[in-house]
Amino acid sequence: MIIKNNYSLQAHNTFGFNIKANKYIEYNTVEELTSILPMLKENNWLHIGAGSNLLFTKNYDGIILHSAISHVETIEKGTNHILVKIGAGVTWDEICWDAAILDLYGIENLSFIPGEVGAAAVQNIGAYGAEIADVIEYVQTIDLNGNTHTLNKQQCCYNYRDSIFKNQLKNQQIITHVVIKLHINGKINTNYQALQQYTKNKHNITSMQMRQIIYEIRTSKLPDYKKFGNAGSFFKNPVVSNQKAEALTQQYPQIPTYKTNDGIKLSAAWLIDNANLKGYSNDGAAVYKHQPLVIIKTNNNATPNHVIELAQYIVNTVYNKFGVTLIPEVNYI
Ligand code: EPU
Repeated sequence: MIIKNNYSLQAHNTFGFNIKANKYIEYNTVEELTSILPMLKENNWLHIGAGSNLLFTKNYDGIILHSAISHVETIEKGTNHILVKIGAGVTWDEICWDAAILDLYGIENLSFIPGEVGAAAVQNIGAYGAEIADVIEYVQTIDLNGNTHTLNKQQCCYNYRDSIFKNQLKNQQIITHVVIKLHINGKINTNYQALQQYTKNKHNITSMQMRQIIYEIRTSKLPDYKKFGNAGSFFKNPVVSNQKAEALTQQYPQIPTYKTNDGIKLSAAWLIDNANLKGYSNDGAAVYKHQPLVIIKTNNNATPNHVIELAQYIVNTVYNKFGVTLIPEVNYI
């Protein structure tokens, strides 16, 4: 177990801000985690993954927890599927890579998403018409009294970038393992529009080939956080009423709209782009020119305030033009 005081979190957030925590604890096993639970009852604490969806706004007054539970095990093998149990501290894309190598299906569209397995299950990572909830069988957790729990997919209350772990169970239970179902002889999923251009006229695409396609799309659109600090999509795609969507479509016939159970989903990238904010910047942060949903850090003198100010400017400008409020997907800490 690693325990450090007054610890820089620079390597633990993909914006790369040099923010400090009073204490940082990294545990390798459920037993180690159990031993520190009493401390959590008496302090502020925040569990992080790879910090790919966080914006630290100031030094953290409390304990930053990080899982290094890295066990991966096939726990069931059927004729058409396998169940894999994965420690919360495993890097998500290692699992995507292993699945592609083994010609297993279900997570190839989620390739190259930065982050770790525990956080992926908390925030229901998604891309290219897939989300982790599609493959989750169950999630194992521990509460602050040391009791273990198993939650099936329904109990996790998955929704667009949302789960019970962001709501009722926030700071109540910690995910230790995630069990996912992968398919043998599966089929790739090309429902997402952008994928159709890449896959047309191609047959029998394997999960490894799909991973390659995802790589091409992602690298053409999304910045590498090692070059320009960022946290992926900064805002969620907003959902509005049918009435609001109709009014917008009348005024802007090109606006993309997607029907969902909760209303009409709009494209935050389109709204930001059409508010003429692509490439817009202040002294430390910019709207990324290839995918305006991403805010990048532009230099090493940038501070969290540059990002906060730019994000607020985007929210105001989009609201003034379209009457739609963008909600950050990134967590402000
Ligand atoms: N668009 C523009 N201008 C642009 C770029 C995009 O108008 O410069 C519009 C287009 O209409 C395009 C639409 O935005 O068709 C959608 O763009 P994209 O396919 O890139 O998807 P997104 O909705 O903007 C979401 C996720 C991404 C994920 C992609 C691909 C959210 C908040 N973001 O973005 O997730 O990679 O779909 O599935 O849901 C992340 O969460 O960090 C992330 C990158």
